[in-house]
Amino acid sequence: MSDIKSGDAKATFKQVKKHFSPSLAMAGKFMGQGAVETSAEGCRVTLSDGRQALDFGSYAVALLGHRNVAVVRAVRDQLDRMPTSTRSVLNPVPALAAETVVDYLGGALPKVYFGSGGADAVEVAVKLARVATGRSTVIAVEGAFHGKTLGALALTHHDRFRGGLDSVLPGAVHIDPARPDAVARVLAETDDVAALIFEPVQGENGVTTLDPAILARWCADAKAAGAFVIADEIQVGLRRCGERSVALAAGLPVDAVLLGKALGGGVVPVSAMVCSEELYAPLAADFVLHTATFSGHPLATAAIVPALATIEEHVADGLRVGAEMAAGLEAIAADHPESVSAVRGRGLLWGVDFVSPEFVGEVQVGLAQRGLVVSTCLSRPEVLRLIPPIVATSEDIEQALFLLRGSIEQARAAVA
Ligand SMILES: Cc1ncc(COP(=O)(O)O)c(C=O)c1O
Repeated sequence: MSDIKSGDAKATFKQVKKHFSPSLAMAGKFMGQGAVETSAEGCRVTLSDGRQALDFGSYAVALLGHRNVAVVRAVRDQLDRMPTSTRSVLNPVPALAAETVVDYLGGALPKVYFGSGGADAVEVAVKLARVATGRSTVIAVEGAFHGKTLGALALTHHDRFRGGLDSVLPGAVHIDPARPDAVARVLAETDDVAALIFEPVQGENGVTTLDPAILARWCADAKAAGAFVIADEIQVGLRRCGERSVALAAGLPVDAVLLGKALGGGVVPVSAMVCSEELYAPLAADFVLHTATFSGHPLATAAIVPALATIEEHVADGLRVGAEMAAGLEAIAADHPESVSAVRGRGLLWGVDFVSPEFVGEVQVGLAQRGLVVSTCLSRPEVLRLIPPIVATSEDIEQALFLLRGSIEQARAAVA
């Protein structure tokens, strides 16, 4: 048995290789430079060899950094009282969390379903849209990422994840994000459209912002045809891209906002579908239509109230972090036009386009050696995502940009 607290890197590598996947073991060994992660606080992760890494990655979960004090306190308190639910007697914790998340989004979407991961929220939203309309087609966007369970995967656009499964992923039509008439064109061909789903900013697709004017036209066309509109903000909501909900702030007439990742305060896994009475109607009529053993789990939902309150305490920090990241990344791009082809993003979500996937690989060597954790875009291997916590200080950002700059210079020397 390895020592979990101090982290036996060799044993972990062997276990991951044997019980998960050899390539996962190799990738993780490379990123940790032979060490494993053992503890974390704020923006920093401590590794088993004593080094510390700066976390600007974690796939957008650690918006509040690691082990936020208020969230840990609430979860620990729930752990000491009643972490799990009978699911027969009512529990006040998910009920209060639902009221809080509805108020947080302004109150116009009054209904909630809690899941554990983001795909859970996608699944229930799409299922309800199909049941409520009696239709089966869902319009999604080229480049979309909505998760990898079969229902969500049908909406996810990338071939790498869909390989060999197309026959069991029916019912989705993917539209061109540049065409204002894309939804109208689908509607002209079929009256079977149950929903339109989109990410206002496609995080996994290299941090690509969809045109708000085009989104407005799509939403209007979908609504006019009686289809539901679902904004997947699992990655970009909760102030990651500045707003509580990007779609609601843009005035888009959405029937559902999907939240996940940072909703658990970086401490527990929890997601939410927050929606209109109309979309929720089938579930309101028959609450067992969609259930899951851990839906509304008290330990997970206990995190939501302190997580949302703490995010709001840091709104001004978020603006500062966004401005510092924009200025710093643009300066790096200007200094390295031969290596960086574009910088895209907003707020606390940035994509840096490098000239090739091979070059990104070299940059990652430098980042791993220097101790800066970022998140790759699995579907766009030439793009690195920097996803800073809202609690990052100016010094943290300066350090991250310094480490990135050094890694680019090292990569240039390696490929020269
Ligand atoms: C926009 C979006 N939707 C859905 C998902 C799926 O979430 P999960 O991996 O928690 O199932 C993700 C995950 O990255 C995402 O970015």
